[in-house]
Amino acid sequence: MNIIVTGGAGFIGSNFVYYMLKNHPDYRIICLDALTYAGNLHTLEEAMKNPNFRFVKGDIADRECVYKLFEEEKPDIVVNFAAESHVDRSIENPEIFLKTNIIGTQVMMDACRKYGIKRYHQVSTDEVYGDLPLDRPDLMFTEETPLHTSSPYSASKASADLLVMAYHRTYGLPVTISRCSNNYGPYHFPEKLIPLVITRALEDKTIPVYGTGANVRDWLYVEDHCRAIDLIIHKGREGEIYNIGGHNERTNLQVVKTVLHELNKPESLITFVTDRPGHDRRYAINPEKIEKELGWNPTYNFEQGIKVTVKWYLEHRPWWEKIISGEYQNYYKSMYSNR
Ligand code: NAD
Ligand code: TYD
Repeated sequence: MNIIVTGGAGFIGSNFVYYMLKNHPDYRIICLDALTYAGNLHTLEEAMKNPNFRFVKGDIADRECVYKLFEEEKPDIVVNFAAESHVDRSIENPEIFLKTNIIGTQVMMDACRKYGIKRYHQVSTDEVYGDLPLDRPDLMFTEETPLHTSSPYSASKASADLLVMAYHRTYGLPVTISRCSNNYGPYHFPEKLIPLVITRALEDKTIPVYGTGANVRDWLYVEDHCRAIDLIIHKGREGEIYNIGGHNERTNLQVVKTVLHELNKPESLITFVTDRPGHDRRYAINPEKIEKELGWNPTYNFEQGIKVTVKWYLEHRPWWEKIISGEYQNYYKSMYSNR
């Protein structure tokens, strides 16, 4: 089996590359990644040593590059992780989100149509459903929940999902979509909440919490997400959408306090800052469909996953220190200096 994994130098994509090389040692994994600020070749150093792995630097929206890769590799499956993924960046500059997340998806699917494919899998997000009120814990996102997006990021991901379903209905492309809740774990870029808290707390810096910290996210350890995608590409039904989540809802303040506690750092580092515009209140996934149809269940609860994650960041300081030393610091200044 030849699998093209786009965005494999990013957080979830790289975890998926390692998951697949370990669990399917006979598969060939080809990573296509543009190496934007979020892509990191250091992350793939171990994978590079595996003869069944190939890295190709390229943009999923670059038709010529993508078609050439399909001609060379004749993939059986494509898993599309490549995306601009940070909500705050999408608020500052939406354009690149539309190009990568929508046009990039279209180009990848055009290549699948042209060269033939067994499965095109789109890695989507629960953010396409918009948000849920804080005072209705009984409500959760199902696959039938209407799309109702809040940020340019989620609007671009929802647009891509609509295109994927259109390519299935119109051209019969064998597609699946997964919509997962917030992930955390190794190789998570330190602009996102959990790695930001870990890396800043380790340097005794303030922890910026948006608004009152009451917003709720449903957290999943990244390896559980990778296993779900592996199941979907092999056993999921064509044309179907699968929600992925592990019933680990926490307020942002609970998340920050759990991480600080794990690091033995004081809660006095917490600083409340101006809220994110349009900030989604609560995400919560109902994962019944994937549990019943594919027998998927998460293996980590939040407390276990956080322990493993904190340990990983402690043991891999050079990985994140390189990131926060350069370019990223300018980004941090531009995002937080006026908050
Ligand atoms: P990330 O930002 O860590 O990584 C994105 C990767 O895509 C990077 O390696 C980057 O270089 C690459 N990339 C960006 N633009 C590209 C382009 N035009 N062509 C080729 N490569 C490009 O993102 P992530 O958190 O790993 O998310 C991966 C996917 O999972 C995204 O599609 C995201 O929407 C989805 N998702 C993320 C979460 C989460 O909590 N992080 C939850 C649900 C779904
Ligand atoms: P994030 O990791 O950006 O993921 P998403 O917005 O896609 O859910 O943020 C998770 C939550 O944490 C979200 O409610 C925004 C909040 N947040 C903060 O309070 N402070 C921060 O510095 C960041 C980056 C996020």
